[in-house]
Amino acid sequence: MSSAAMQGSTTAAQPWRLGGRTRKAVLVLHIASVGSWLGIDVVMAVLTFTALGTDSESTKILCFRVLELVTVWPMTVSGMTCLVTGVLLAVGGKYGLTKYWWVVVKLFLNLLLSSLVLLSLRPGVAEIADRAEAGDVGIPLGDMIYPPIVSPTLLMFAIVLSVFKPWGLLRKKNRR
Ligand code: HEM
Repeated sequence: MSSAAMQGSTTAAQPWRLGGRTRKAVLVLHIASVGSWLGIDVVMAVLTFTALGTDSESTKILCFRVLELVTVWPMTVSGMTCLVTGVLLAVGGKYGLTKYWWVVVKLFLNLLLSSLVLLSLRPGVAEIADRAEAGDVGIPLGDMIYPPIVSPTLLMFAIVLSVFKPWGLLRKKNRR
């Protein structure tokens, strides 16, 4: 193959990029989804620790029933919006999906937290809500105290990663 043809094959394939305004719109959506996700975490913490701390049966029942309503699906929607907009920003921007450690770690955290909501939190809060509806307030909250601690901590870590963008490239480039 001639050198001109080789050059053509490396430069012809321009990577797909988000346009300036579109990128900003997607970034706004990304940050908004992070804000709502963190907000739902705060609500989850307030409900869980109120249920743990109160002696009032009616307050406990209310907390357990609202917990199911406000956590699972709103959190899943926020997590998925964050994931989709994050992947768009990464693939359609200068950072790429697998170029930088901070992006790869955020991708992992987003997938981990979203999976935990559906696989672990959903059955937990559903059971608690069902029992509360049946008037059973002697529910051991047990593992339920972990989601409102783990989720906001990992989200805050992801926010710090997004702002400071540490650790550089995944693979050092071999420049010739
Ligand atoms: C784990 C949940 C996530 C949180 C809390 C989060 C948070 C943020 C925040 C606050 C920003 C704005 C930073 C700034 O403008 O200085 C940002 C930007 C960004 N995020 Fe995320 N993010 C998350 C998930 C993801 C995922 C899954 C990806 C892609 C795989 C991603 C890729 C990006 C990229 C590429 C930017 C920079 C956009 C740009 O300025 O061009 N994020 N993220």
